[in-house]
Amino acid sequence: MSLLILGIESSCDETGVALVESTTPQAVPTLVAHALHSQIEMHQAYGGVVPELASRDHIRRVLPLTEAVLAESGRSLGDVDVVAYTRGPGLAGALLVGAGVACALGAALDRPVLGVHHLEGHLLSPFLSADPPEFPFVALLVSGGHTQLMRVDGVGQYALLGETIDDAAGEAFDKSAKLMGLGYPGGPALSRLAEQGDATAFKLPRPLLHSGNLDFSFAGLKTAVLTQAKKLGDELEARKADLAASTQAAIVEVLVKKTLAALKDTGLRRVVVAGGVGANRLLRAQLDAACARLQVRVHYPELHLCTDNGAMIAMAAAMRLQAGQQQPNRDYAFDVKPRWPLDSLLQAA
Ligand code: KG4
Ligand code: ZN
Repeated sequence: MSLLILGIESSCDETGVALVESTTPQAVPTLVAHALHSQIEMHQAYGGVVPELASRDHIRRVLPLTEAVLAESGRSLGDVDVVAYTRGPGLAGALLVGAGVACALGAALDRPVLGVHHLEGHLLSPFLSADPPEFPFVALLVSGGHTQLMRVDGVGQYALLGETIDDAAGEAFDKSAKLMGLGYPGGPALSRLAEQGDATAFKLPRPLLHSGNLDFSFAGLKTAVLTQAKKLGDELEARKADLAASTQAAIVEVLVKKTLAALKDTGLRRVVVAGGVGANRLLRAQLDAACARLQVRVHYPELHLCTDNGAMIAMAAAMRLQAGQQQPNRDYAFDVKPRWPLDSLLQAA
């Protein structure tokens, strides 16, 4: 039975709406249309996301984006079978906008709704690409708030292999960028500047590289970058590209080596990279090179679907429904989960 799923993402600074269609129980669901509005420009003046402004902007954008997606696909609201939304984790007020609109639409259309875990959306986002992965695989989930290695055997069959004990990789990019005065969002800015720098210019730590387990730690790296920046003083401006390149090289080396260790530990031959940091060019290049040597397949979400979007939310809902992992409901008295550990979706390792 064919199912058309409307997905709404509003957990942080991007409003995303998408339609995904699931045709047969076996076929990977497909993206019908998606639309996105990024709030980056609005928050730039403040150097970071202002939660109240984010919520207000989601309110302004979500219905016009829904109309745009319907117009692009030639479908109408009446064609939608299930309305999915990001239930968490994220900013409470921002999540409430997407959840509220999704549940209001569901109630008005007499269609069931389904709350999606934002990280599961990232995790399954490579299935939106033309060459989707097959289970099982090792997943490297690297976003602004999370850094995790997982063994993924199927939809909802996730086992945690390792995770960060302090800052996330995205946070390491963002915080280092901020103290170099590169503004928000820091990851893309730092990696752009890094392209003109010498990655061997500064010796920065590779935290937990030889810890013998698959955990990460990035807080110490950020402190080392701060110490280096202070040491440079007036010279910082002239050496910024070198410091950016050295920082990026340290983060990427740890991510790549730990991913290779996870492949070795699990014996799996496939890797999926998901989350905003997955857009990083150096990470992609180094992981591609290492995995080519080992004859391991690497899958990424398409570049424009690495950061937050509605397509991954609709996709995760479609795949959960297909796998019988979750039933949509008609309980329109929604709640959101600003702090929602992925553990609740994880199986014991
Ligand atoms: O997945 P995402 O859009 O949002 C969260 O769920 O957190 O990830 C955002 C994170 C930010 O920390 C951002 O700086 C980082 O992804 N990011 C990058 C790049 N593009 C986005 N980090 C490094 N290089 C990039 N090209
Ligand atoms: Zn995200």
